[in-house]
Amino acid sequence: MDMDNQYFMHGGDYNPDQWLSYPDILEKDFSYMKQAKINTVTLGVFSWNALEPEEGQYQFKWLDEIFDHIHSIGGRVILATPSGGRPQWLSQKYPEVNRTNNQGQKHGHGFRHNHCYSSPIYREKVRAINQQLAERYGAHPALAMWHISNEFSGECFCSYCQENWRKWLKNKYKDLASLNHAWWMSFWGNSYSDWSQVLPPSPLGEHKVHGMDLDWKRFVTDMTIDFYLHECAPLRAQTPNIPITTNFMAEGHATQDFIPLEGINYGKFAQYVDIVSWDSYPDWHNDFERIADTAMKSAYVHDQYWSLKKEPFLIMECTPSHVNWHQFNKAKKPGMHMLSAMQQIAHGSDSTLYFQWRQSRGNSEKFHGAVISHDGSSENRVFKEVAAYGERLTKIKEIKGTTRKKEVAILFDWESNWALNRGGGFGRPTRRYPQTLQEHYRYFWENDIALDILTPDQDFSNYTLVLAPMLYMMTPDIMEKLEKYVENGGMLVSSYFSGMVNETDLLYLGGLPQTLQALFGIEVLELDTLYPHEYNHINYGNKTYKTKDYSAIVKVKTAQVLGEFQLDFYRGTPAITKNSYGKGAAYYFSARTSNEFHHDFYDQLAQELELKKESIAEANPVVSIQSRSSSIRDYYFIMNFSEIDQPLSISCALTNLETDQLLPTFLQLKPYEVIVAYKVN
Ligand code: GLA
Ligand code: ZN
Repeated sequence: MDMDNQYFMHGGDYNPDQWLSYPDILEKDFSYMKQAKINTVTLGVFSWNALEPEEGQYQFKWLDEIFDHIHSIGGRVILATPSGGRPQWLSQKYPEVNRTNNQGQKHGHGFRHNHCYSSPIYREKVRAINQQLAERYGAHPALAMWHISNEFSGECFCSYCQENWRKWLKNKYKDLASLNHAWWMSFWGNSYSDWSQVLPPSPLGEHKVHGMDLDWKRFVTDMTIDFYLHECAPLRAQTPNIPITTNFMAEGHATQDFIPLEGINYGKFAQYVDIVSWDSYPDWHNDFERIADTAMKSAYVHDQYWSLKKEPFLIMECTPSHVNWHQFNKAKKPGMHMLSAMQQIAHGSDSTLYFQWRQSRGNSEKFHGAVISHDGSSENRVFKEVAAYGERLTKIKEIKGTTRKKEVAILFDWESNWALNRGGGFGRPTRRYPQTLQEHYRYFWENDIALDILTPDQDFSNYTLVLAPMLYMMTPDIMEKLEKYVENGGMLVSSYFSGMVNETDLLYLGGLPQTLQALFGIEVLELDTLYPHEYNHINYGNKTYKTKDYSAIVKVKTAQVLGEFQLDFYRGTPAITKNSYGKGAAYYFSARTSNEFHHDFYDQLAQELELKKESIAEANPVVSIQSRSSSIRDYYFIMNFSEIDQPLSISCALTNLETDQLLPTFLQLKPYEVIVAYKVN
């Protein structure tokens, strides 16, 4: 969805409701916003109490004033519905709005985001306040967008939710016999004989049934979407032309990962938002990896969220300096804000919005970075870097709304990830499905080949190369799609774990399903798990490569063997195979391969397929080049994700978008430097 204003949104969460008794602070906010080239603020995220301090008693005066003020300085407002943080009176008067945990304990009021999605009272109260907001601000000229609640996540096990759960299951399975079969309840003799016996998973009750867990997660996604749509209804009715979004998340920090949130199927959720937005907090300058590694992971999540709609997305939150919830909350070094924020735009964001505008004075996030720090000064380094970035955004504004061209796709399926993680067996800490996809992605990122990360439900028929490693759960439809894709000339890469179970996590009998046996030209006989210190070797080309974690033992039917295991009892069995099928071919990796292997394997494939590299220079693994395209120009973001100068020789005529000067053929990129250039196409 395009927004009518032709500038990148720059701004973020503005919480004047924390400062209503500090008029001098509010006054300063507006002049600082101009100075920092802020054009958009998100209001109301946790403002319910300030808007409705007592049931049915609304107070909009303060918000009216802020709205008008923002408008008067030429800014626009993303208005949030306040359900992310409910008022005390609501929880006290109607305890049903609070969540019940999976052991049946009722939560009291506290924290945020922790409301029940089923509670009729909560739904009614949310509808009422949303209706008020829509009526009052729907026609305000500053209103740019609706932001529903905040970072939806979590689940509730109360009696209302249990009822909805049974309803959801009845709708899906119709009768208990089908449910019992789908979940394989005959195991341990636990089959249901009455619907009232069907409860949600709980550590105090049923918690070993994989199919149940999988369905519960699907149910939680559906409930979240249902609640979201319930919130949207009064807004849509009043303001059919104002786009609606809700902010998605990434996760993994505790484990040194940075991957899309696992708990909600965003592939599904994205179909209900007008524009995808997400909150990005990579762990820059950490002590466990290079800046370029953090950048690669961050790029991956951007690409995944771009691909949900294949349209520009928004960065709804990021921090200009540090967060307060990492293990060690390091500030971004000078230049890192510019680089990391430009990376957002390079991957297709049309905004850089911060959490938050002004650092809170007290309470849980008082040490979280913000545009205005506690010193309240525009002389602050962070403030100045934000202002400098805002200035640069105005110079590259013609890129807003432009698209991205990709020829390669990786397939990632949220549900398959749930199923794989929940099942027993294998190596518990080494399944790492999204992280493994990132290791494949790394090659493309380091070599400036842009790619999409699609769900298997999306259309991938037009991509030159599709990577679908570890696609554990596959419906017959997906298998057929893959088959058609290759038959029509596509190049597919898959691996161990793929195609093991159906959509309720029942194993396919007879080994790899026939469609896949024909497609890959192999049979899979066994899948062995390695300890973290164990490894195997495979030969490929003239080299030997280390593999780890998993080794599948396969037998070739029609495929060509390109590499074999070197060690252990599967020595001599196929490790890398290629099967020509129709006009295309399908590769199968029997082992978890290394970066070195990916480098050599994909390099060869990229050459064979003549994949168009963005590189306007020889690829440099710490310099990322990403492009966006309009009908007349290709824009290149050249980003140095390292702390040292990087030389780069440019092989075509590029113009620096900000200075309108031709780029010299030899560039010496400074640490963290970003150049934005274009080529007329
Ligand atoms: C999330 C929330 C914000 C804030 C930030 C802190 O993204 O939406 O309200 O808590 O984290 O990083
Ligand atoms: Zn509930």
